[in-house]
Amino acid sequence: GGQRALIRESWRRLSGSPEQHGLVLFSRLFDLDPDLLPLFQYNCKQFASPQECLSAPEFLDHIRKVMLVIDSAVSHLENLSCLEEYLCNLGKKHQAVGVKVESFSTVGESLLYMLEKCLGAAFSPEVQEAWSKLYSAVVKAMQRGWES
Ligand code: HEM
Repeated sequence: GGQRALIRESWRRLSGSPEQHGLVLFSRLFDLDPDLLPLFQYNCKQFASPQECLSAPEFLDHIRKVMLVIDSAVSHLENLSCLEEYLCNLGKKHQAVGVKVESFSTVGESLLYMLEKCLGAAFSPEVQEAWSKLYSAVVKAMQRGWES
């Protein structure tokens, strides 16, 4: 359908530098909810500031992982159910590290913010609507990890 084409086209525009775009997303996330910062700990070490976190190699790996999950959702728009088990397990892992399911709506806001910043004029209301739907489907699947 038209929404799938809009998603593919807009994601293709961002395909050059996933890490850069992920940084825009996570900078926004820490602006909106600084309490998420302590959830990112590598070797039990807490980051002193969002800036420190955003420049740590382990955190940049997490950014790449997030962008890869979004990329695979975009590749499976016709059959998102293929990803359901993977996403449910991913939800469980996030519950285990202390993420609250509610925080994923702030992540969603940050994703839309990143798309708006990075797509510029190409970020139409239709594009926003299409991404909101896709993101909701991904979160719904991850949420199952909290329920069980
Ligand atoms: C792993 C935190 C959002 C995808 C992790 C880990 C932490 C974490 C602490 C384990 C350490 C690491 O691998 O870096 C968070 C927090 C989030 C968030 C606080 C937002 C509130 C997301 C989102 C996605 C995602 C939105 C993708 C849609 C992943 C993946 C892994 C991971 C793929 C690796 C899982 C594995 O090892 O199998 N996350 N995350 N994360 N996260 Fe997140």
